[in-house]
Amino acid sequence: MKRIICIIMTLFIVMGIAAGCSQKQDIDYLVLVNKENRLPDDWEDKLQTVTVKNSLGDDVEVEKEAYAAYLKLKADLEKEDIHVDLDSARRSVAAQQDIWDRFMEKYGEEYTRTYVAVPGYSEHHTGLALDLYLNINGVDVYLNEDMVEYPEIWARIHEKLADHGFILRYLEGKEAITGYGYEPWHIRYIRSADTAREIRTRGITLEEYLNKLPATDVAPPRDSE
Ligand code: DAL
Ligand code: ZN
Repeated sequence: MKRIICIIMTLFIVMGIAAGCSQKQDIDYLVLVNKENRLPDDWEDKLQTVTVKNSLGDDVEVEKEAYAAYLKLKADLEKEDIHVDLDSARRSVAAQQDIWDRFMEKYGEEYTRTYVAVPGYSEHHTGLALDLYLNINGVDVYLNEDMVEYPEIWARIHEKLADHGFILRYLEGKEAITGYGYEPWHIRYIRSADTAREIRTRGITLEEYLNKLPATDVAPPRDSE
């Protein structure tokens, strides 16, 4: 009898260890990835994502919890007849390189450096950065130059972000700190609604909130080009 109890207990311990090992550690939802801080090396080990299809038929990969929060944001916006979808969320370094190359060809270097991160330094690598696009009167509006034509809609979207744990990442007037031009479509999940509300109320960037201002030169790193 003693032996059986001993075997059962050993089994439970082994199963417990196995469950513990298979459970991923929590990611740092306040991680800072910008022109000076690249994606942490162990990020992929902890990251859990879901892949969904958008209205354009593209697959979009998003960090699991950020996606759940996005769905709540989307539902909240729909109550006000505002319709959004996901253009892009998590990107591999190779996918970022593709975007970089396409933008260089279509818009040239200055625009590309203002709106596209050098591969390896994009917040999109985290899975926590989401690029939204609009659906206005049944028409998808997803090109940057078209989306900026709707500042009132974006303002109403921005009002709702904090309640769902999101912040607007690249603020107008803060280009010297973020290193990028104003992007009304690029939102970032940070998990805590209280922190998101504080960031919004203070009108600051994630860099300022974390007290990690860039060094004097915010030019993009050139090592991976
Ligand atoms: N558009 C942002 C800056 C990126 O490419 O990560
Ligand atoms: Zn983006």
